[in-house]
Amino acid sequence: MSSSCGTGGCSHGANLESAQRPLITKNKVNEDLQSYWDTIYTVVDYQKNGWFEEVPQQSLDLIHQLNLDKDARILNVGAGTTTLVDFLLKQNFNNISATDISSTALEILKDRLQDNAKKIDWITDDLTNPTLLLDLAPVDLWIDRAVFHFFTEVKDQETYLNLLAQKVKKGGYVILATFNLKGASKCSGLPVRRYNELMLKTKLKDNFDLVESFEYTYTMPSGDTRPYIYTLFKRI
Ligand SMILES: C[S@@+](CC[C@H](N)C(=O)[O-])C[C@H]1O[C@@H](n2cnc3c(N)ncnc32)[C@H](O)[C@@H]1O
Repeated sequence: MSSSCGTGGCSHGANLESAQRPLITKNKVNEDLQSYWDTIYTVVDYQKNGWFEEVPQQSLDLIHQLNLDKDARILNVGAGTTTLVDFLLKQNFNNISATDISSTALEILKDRLQDNAKKIDWITDDLTNPTLLLDLAPVDLWIDRAVFHFFTEVKDQETYLNLLAQKVKKGGYVILATFNLKGASKCSGLPVRRYNELMLKTKLKDNFDLVESFEYTYTMPSGDTRPYIYTLFKRI
């Protein structure tokens, strides 16, 4: 599989059969896209994916400064197999939802979390054609690392941004991390759109104040680097 995001390796370490709680699934997910991502998570050991972080330090630092209550509602969109969920649970956050188009990714994450998987709400849904997510109660924090940049079509961006505007409470926060303008033009074989601070600010429109942004160069498991921009917005 060609990948500018450096998916590498072909072993799959996770035991997919020990899921403790059924995933909420639905029929209307874009099946081609779902199967594309399911395949990536099936053929590549998740720790070798070009976006894998042992410690998602930039996201954790941003979350730390928000001083959220432990029962704050946190939605990790396009969560994949992120270790962020593990760290949030260790910090005793108890109201976390993880959503992704790939049920395979969420199964791997559940498997890794073992008993703690019960503490998470799992939602398989398509951010560009949401159905289950429409019923989700508003959240205090929406976290997206390396997902929004895949939405190259304006209509998909608009659907995502409408959902975000509906689902983040007034006074709530959004962490949005994408490839920056020096970043790769593809990830996992898919084209991506790259952003700077102003472009993301413009996308989120008037409902959100930009609190902070910074660039960060991530080193992939392969040793290659990928420049990101991290932004933190507050819903007004
Ligand atoms: C590059 S990975 C990032 C995963 C995770 N956020 C992280 O930082 O480790 C992109 C993730 O977005 C998910 N994704 C792609 N398109 C999606 C869509 N339309 N709706 C929901 N999730 C999507 C993929 O399945 C994948 O898990």
